Amino acid sequence: MSARSFPPEFLWGSATASYQIEGGATEGGRGPSIWDTFSHTPGKTLNGDTGDVADDHYHRWQEDVEHIKNLGLGAYRFSIAWPRVQPGGSGEFNAEGIRFYSDLVDGLIAAGVKPVVTLYHWDLPQELEDAGGWTNRETAYAFARYARKMAEELGDRIDVWTTLNEPWCTAYLGYGSGVHAPGRTEDLAALQAVHHLNLAHGLAVQQIREVLGDAAKTSITLNLHVFRPDDPSSEADQGAVRKVDALANRAFLAPVLEGVYPADLLENTASVTDWSFVLDGDLEITKQPLDVLGVNYYSTARVRHFAGEGERQQADGHKDSAGTPWPAADDVEFLPQPGPYTAMGWNIEPAGLTDLLVSLRDSYPDQPLMVTENGAAFEDTVVTEDGVARVHDVDRVAYLHDHVEALGQARDKGVDVRGYFAWSLLDNFEWAYGYDRRFGIIRVDYDTLERTWKDSAHWYRRLATTNTLPG
Ligand code: NOJ
Repeated sequence: MSARSFPPEFLWGSATASYQIEGGATEGGRGPSIWDTFSHTPGKTLNGDTGDVADDHYHRWQEDVEHIKNLGLGAYRFSIAWPRVQPGGSGEFNAEGIRFYSDLVDGLIAAGVKPVVTLYHWDLPQELEDAGGWTNRETAYAFARYARKMAEELGDRIDVWTTLNEPWCTAYLGYGSGVHAPGRTEDLAALQAVHHLNLAHGLAVQQIREVLGDAAKTSITLNLHVFRPDDPSSEADQGAVRKVDALANRAFLAPVLEGVYPADLLENTASVTDWSFVLDGDLEITKQPLDVLGVNYYSTARVRHFAGEGERQQADGHKDSAGTPWPAADDVEFLPQPGPYTAMGWNIEPAGLTDLLVSLRDSYPDQPLMVTENGAAFEDTVVTEDGVARVHDVDRVAYLHDHVEALGQARDKGVDVRGYFAWSLLDNFEWAYGYDRRFGIIRVDYDTLERTWKDSAHWYRRLATTNTLPG
């Protein structure tokens, strides 16, 4: 493979999320979020890990900005913890919490790094959950008020405003399978959450534009799934793909970009709901002009149709690799993908990223795209060489290399992909897996909180500063 160049305006970044890195969970007037409650509930996270301290980014953010600068990155994607800036999710704002993000944004700009902010990366104020969380329409309005306040406070210093991160996870993992906070397990709740999240996105974009005008660049980040039919020549397996594609992808893409819910989605889920929680006018709100669509990509999934319980190939075939049973999709079976795998057990298939970007372009030709997350967890080992700690994470370097190449191939096909964000800047709290899975290009020693560049960080710095992917 020969070396590949990217244009100078292509944005190289790295991403994090508040609950995964900040710590300082009870400091500076921060209120409790659903992830505090969930992670403190026995049995919900591996080893009972919580985000109480995490990477202590709350106290070490200046050092972290220094790392971002030294990596030569053009952008940094982080999220605002809603309960830090508005402890109860409605009512009073917390000036100290707002100052934390304002200082961070100033620090990034001083370092020549564009701030790409996410307003919701899963840490819902607990008080809102107590009132029904995302099953309650009111949460969408509360989110819009919070978004407006952030636009007023951070204003034109933000390069891209992302409303939600991976609403699929919030809805289906949070309210359907219960492996994420708040841990509810009801199909109806999951589908209500889908809609209220889409509504929250639209309402928030309206508010941001009202405050900042058209200069504000707005976005949403989706974890779009790439499904492979087990037997591509089977009509039934293709039907299975369509069914889960509607739930995972089109349930968000269609309302946000087209102002509709797909007819097959409504039909397939009729046993769960008649979708009467979608009120007149909602779909005009969900569809707002979007400057960039954020895409998170990690792996692919293989599915098949099966006719009856006895015909399942896998004991747990109704669940995907995240342990999710999909609402109203009992006749779809998830099958294991061939390896290689990351430490998450996810298969590595860079071509899936090319396929996904190309298919998005085919469906939405005028929509600019950005890969807002891509990366891999591997079992890293630290070695000391000449007194210096090193992590030779060759697997992660290969993963990142191959996916940047896959993105380049999509660009070769004319897809308008404007940036790439490696997940993650730092090892961090990987939700239900706690600190056991390390995605960082920078290692965090959880005893000392010391940061150490892995080989992947050195590799990424070269890419970001030369715009050249070695062959
Ligand atoms: C998606 C999420 O946005 C992020 O929070 C998570 O850590 C990574 N993927 C890896 O699972």
